[in-house]
Amino acid sequence: MSGRHILITGASGGLGAALARHYAAPGVALLLVGRNVERLARVVHECRAKGADVRLLVLDVRESAALHELIAKADAQRPIDTVFANAGVEASLGPLGEAEALDDVLAQIRTNFEGAVVTVQPLIDPMRARGQGRIVLVASLAGRMPLPDQPTYSATKAGLIAYGEALRPVLAAKGVSLTIACPGFIDTGMARTYRGWRPLQWSAERAAATIARATERGARSVSFPFALAGLVALGRVAPPFLRETVLRRLFAVDVRTEARAEAAEPCCDAASPRSITYASKIPDKKSKSEVFIEDMTL
Ligand SMILES: NC(=O)c1ccc[n+]([C@@H]2O[C@H](COP(=O)([O-])OP(=O)(O)OC[C@H]3O[C@@H](n4cnc5c(N)ncnc54)[C@H](OP(=O)(O)O)[C@@H]3O)[C@@H](O)[C@H]2O)c1
Repeated sequence: MSGRHILITGASGGLGAALARHYAAPGVALLLVGRNVERLARVVHECRAKGADVRLLVLDVRESAALHELIAKADAQRPIDTVFANAGVEASLGPLGEAEALDDVLAQIRTNFEGAVVTVQPLIDPMRARGQGRIVLVASLAGRMPLPDQPTYSATKAGLIAYGEALRPVLAAKGVSLTIACPGFIDTGMARTYRGWRPLQWSAERAAATIARATERGARSVSFPFALAGLVALGRVAPPFLRETVLRRLFAVDVRTEARAEAAEPCCDAASPRSITYASKIPDKKSKSEVFIEDMTL
């Protein structure tokens, strides 16, 4: 793993943090992106303790221009060999089928789809020019089998899968792999806001290790848990009326977006760094979020 530079968005908790911990080792540089500075700092601390060289970027991935510029800059300073476009949010229809709130619709589209595409886009040409690189899009089994209560979430993940499948051959021709990860249920902050049946749920650590193995061998895709992925494949060829009936009965979902903050993993314990020094701050009057990056100047 020596000499690597790995970018992970949504690294402040859940699967992204587990991926960061999985890869953290001496000789590995990690660039971790998230919005919650305290949770992100805890992950940075854990990864540094494992010997990795870690920088953090406190940024909302919906800030497309800043995200694009900073990733391009990071890659120019030290080539990024692996990127995990992982940041994501979810919402659902109301318990009686009420429409999702507009804010939730836009947050899902702009985080799960736009944020992922903008994470990858600045690395496409540099990776192709170098003739190597690994791109990982964290989608979902819901992108392969849309869930009736999660139309926007399912659509953002299906869109991401389509984007990856379209891009993959062009990248492969230049030695760059693109892996689409389609997890089922993972025990993370996101899953804890989800009221519904979560069969065969995996731990974040197991999911991260499985995705990392697929990434390292340049797999086209990885879907898990394998039994659920098999059922999804069967469901795709089943008659729609049968599929819809089964999905509605088994996967009635209620996601309480207001519960998200409480469900997120607890932040900083006593061992975590109390203060973090940032070398620069990007002033952006239009931006709702603050943008920091360590050891980088614009
Ligand atoms: N958990 C599951 O059952 C499951 C199943 C299938 C697929 N997935 C996918 O796996 C990925 C990771 O999800 P998770 O389960 O680990 O959820 P999680 O525990 O809620 O973590 C989501 C991560 O994304 C970050 N994030 C969210 N919005 C962001 C934004 N606008 N800008 C920057 N970072 C943002 C969060 O950090 P901040 O809050 O600090 O920004 C957090 O680090 C997502 O793409 C999700 O759709 C999850």
